[in-house]
Parts: sequence; C-alpha cells; structure tokens
Amino acid sequence: MNIRTTVAVPLAAFLLAGCATPEPRPDYDALLAQMMRDSFRDEGIAKADRLQQDAANAACSKAAAGSALPEALARSLQEAALKSVRLPSDGKFLGDWREGEKLAQSGRGMTWTDKSAAPATNGGNCYNCHQITAAEISFGTIGPSLLHYGRQRGVTDPESPLSRPIVEYTWTKLYNARAFSACSGMPRFGHAGVLDETQLRNLMALLLDPKSPVNQ
Ligand code: HEC
Repeated sequence: MNIRTTVAVPLAAFLLAGCATPEPRPDYDALLAQMMRDSFRDEGIAKADRLQQDAANAACSKAAAGSALPEALARSLQEAALKSVRLPSDGKFLGDWREGEKLAQSGRGMTWTDKSAAPATNGGNCYNCHQITAAEISFGTIGPSLLHYGRQRGVTDPESPLSRPIVEYTWTKLYNARAFSACSGMPRFGHAGVLDETQLRNLMALLLDPKSPVNQ
C-alpha cells in the first residue's frame, strides 16, 4: 500500500460513515414545550393554561427564532387583534389620571398568591417598559417614551371630535397592542383580561388628559 491509499481509504470510510448516519437535529421547540409543561403547575389563581400559545403568540415566537413573519400573516394577525378590541361600553374614554399613575407604577397581580383573578386587582406595570412622567426617573426602555404623549399629538381637548382618532388609537393600543404591530411585545391589557374598562380609562387619562403630569 502506497502512502496515498493509506490516507485515502480511511478518509473515504470516514466520509461515507458521516453520510450514512446523519446526526438528527433535536426538535428544540418540542423539548422547550415539554420543559415548560414539566416546570409549571396550577397554583392558586395562576393556571398552567397560560402556557398555551394562541395563534399570534405561536407565529411571533417562531418569528423571534429567526424566521421573518410573512406580510400576509402579519396583516391577518393585526386584523384579528383589531376585531378583539371593545371600545368603552358607555363611550367614555378617559377617567382619572391619578389612578392611572398608580396603575402605571404597579406591577403586581396575576401571581399564585393573589386572592382573585379579577382584573381590578392587577397593575399595568407600564414603567417597566416606558418613561411616562418626568417625576418618575426609574423606568424601562423596551417601549418608547410616553412623556408628553397627548401634548405631542396635539390633544388639547380629548372630548373634541378632532381628538377622536388619537383617543381611539390609544384605547386600541392599550386593549390589544397587536392591532397595529403583529408581534408587539406589549401586554394585551384588555384582550387578555389583565385590566378592566375603568382601569383602561384611568391610564388613558394619564396619557391624554391635558392636566396629567405627562402633558406638562
Ligand atoms: C413589556 C413591555 C411593555 C409594557 C409592560 C407596556 N408596554 Fe406599551 N409598548 C411597548 C412596546 C415595545 C411598544 C412599541 C411597540 C408597539 O407599538 O407595540 C409600546 C407601545 C405603546 C404605546 C404606543 C406609543 C405610540 O407612540 O404609538 C402606548 C400608548 C403604550 N405602549 C402604553 C402603555 C401603557 C399605558 C402601559 C401600561 C398599562 C404599557 N404601555 C405597558 C412595551 C410595553
């Protein structure tokens, strides 16, 4: 055997072996789902059904893993989100900004130690992702700054018909952020039953009432 065959034969055998038994890629999505199911259980008001993704969550998780969301799918998810939105039953969009500020500050609720799953016991946790008033200097930056939100958008009288588009947009955004952005990372406060109408009105006032510290 000359030197060439000494090298070539084992190399060919090695390459062939590589072709014959391809390493199967683990199904990471299935493994992750199993790990989540094994790690969580019903506890108090916090039920394991929270692990079940709806169509939008599943599509967006897949996109987050690297595949872009096809435009038609993004549009249909946004349309479905928009249909989920219920405008205030009495046509009143704004409540009390002082209560809104308390909600924006509070990140509590929906945990297994809570006595009730009723939205009225939950906070909005808005400062976790947004700057809102100038006085609060502790805030997250996952979402855009909401300081001067109403003023910047020209809302001097939220009751005026001229303000209606921005008022409705803001309500819709709080109710289901995915109506305008298919894979928004913002919690769907109304749609998911995190906050009730009264709470949403108070947050609306925080953002849009000209007297709110947001608009000073
Ligand atoms: C987990 C992070 C997160 C939390 C919590 C959160 N948001 Fe957001 N929010 C975002 C992100 C990200 C955006 C920008 C993307 C988008 O438009 O969906 C956004 C966008 C918005 C917008 C639209 C801004 C614009 O100029 O159009 C409003 C209004 C808003 N948030 C209000 C709130 C309020 C009020 C709360 C609390 C009840 C809140 N957000 C809680 C992440 C968050």
